[in-house]
Amino acid sequence: MYTTTNYTIELFDRSGNSDEKIELAENVQLGFQKRPKELSPKFFYDERGSQLFEKITRLPEYYQTRTERKLLQQIAPRLAEEKFVELIELGSGSSSKTRVLLSAMTTSGELQHYIPIDVSGDFLLSTAEKLGNDYPTLQIRPVAGDFLDGLKGIERSGSALVIFLGGTIGNLYRSEGVAFLTTVAEDMAEGDLFMMGVDLVKDPTLLHAAYNDSEGVTAEFNKNLLHVINRELDATFNPDEFYHYAFYNPDDTRIEMRLVSKSKQEVNIGKLEIQVDFEEGESILTEISRKFTKASVGSMLSDAGMELIEWWGDDDELFGLIVARKERSGL
Ligand code: SAH
Ligand code: AVI
Repeated sequence: MYTTTNYTIELFDRSGNSDEKIELAENVQLGFQKRPKELSPKFFYDERGSQLFEKITRLPEYYQTRTERKLLQQIAPRLAEEKFVELIELGSGSSSKTRVLLSAMTTSGELQHYIPIDVSGDFLLSTAEKLGNDYPTLQIRPVAGDFLDGLKGIERSGSALVIFLGGTIGNLYRSEGVAFLTTVAEDMAEGDLFMMGVDLVKDPTLLHAAYNDSEGVTAEFNKNLLHVINRELDATFNPDEFYHYAFYNPDDTRIEMRLVSKSKQEVNIGKLEIQVDFEEGESILTEISRKFTKASVGSMLSDAGMELIEWWGDDDELFGLIVARKERSGL
């Protein structure tokens, strides 16, 4: 709880009956039975994981964040004209780029509510506190929960712009992405718009560099998943016994990020009462990061009942920002 001059910011927990620790336990139990072993990237983001991701966004190799920020600066005046009352952000992280929109939409628009939704609860609350100070006319209503639940449980009070930035859609398999966008579309009202950042197919060398930075921050971020499992599930992973390995798979137009075992080893997961065996060279798939074309984004949106209405891209075609609306039935 945090008091600004005129109201108190509190975290609304939308997770209901689902407990993060139980979800992690299930994900680990099921994921280690798959071949290759696989974990969900959702669990990277404890406080340290969120900080490491922030560090990634400032790396010279990670072109995504600065390119998307420039696109947001271009589109902000046009969005302010729409006079949205609410801005709802899925997977908001530090909301750092979102400030571009918050400034434009409060100064020349009619924005009253900013509703950031993120699984990383403590990080979300401290972000909301800072925003509360910097935007005193806005009601900041942080929601801790899974963005896959879309707009469920969010109290609405006017037309909304719903945003999903950073290219995070790429961390979902296509079928998961379509199911997620369908859920979002279902709860969008007439007059609401959806805006999403998408990382684009490009020279694989640039992609490779973005996920293999020279300072090793991405490697630390990747290994953070093992720290999370050690802490939450009493496991005995030695993160130094794994290589960070990220490569671009052009057939599936995606980065695949893995942790590769340096040796044959056994790991105990105390809370699950299991032992997991790794062969030398065996990997855990920790994240996919899909890269898109205009056509692949359009088809994903259309399968989710959304209609692409605007495409904003940089001259080098590194990153795209799309604006979409719910498809109108009966037209
Ligand atoms: N939108 C920000 C952050 C992107 S990083 C940006 O563009 O820089 C991805 C964010 O999504 C993190 O803040 C992470 O905590 C959050 N996240 C990942 N999986 C999630 C899930 N399933 N539900 C809710 N938040 C999630
Ligand atoms: C959050 N997401 C869009 C990032 C990405 O690029 O897929 C996560 C990340 N993984 C490694 N570096 C950054």
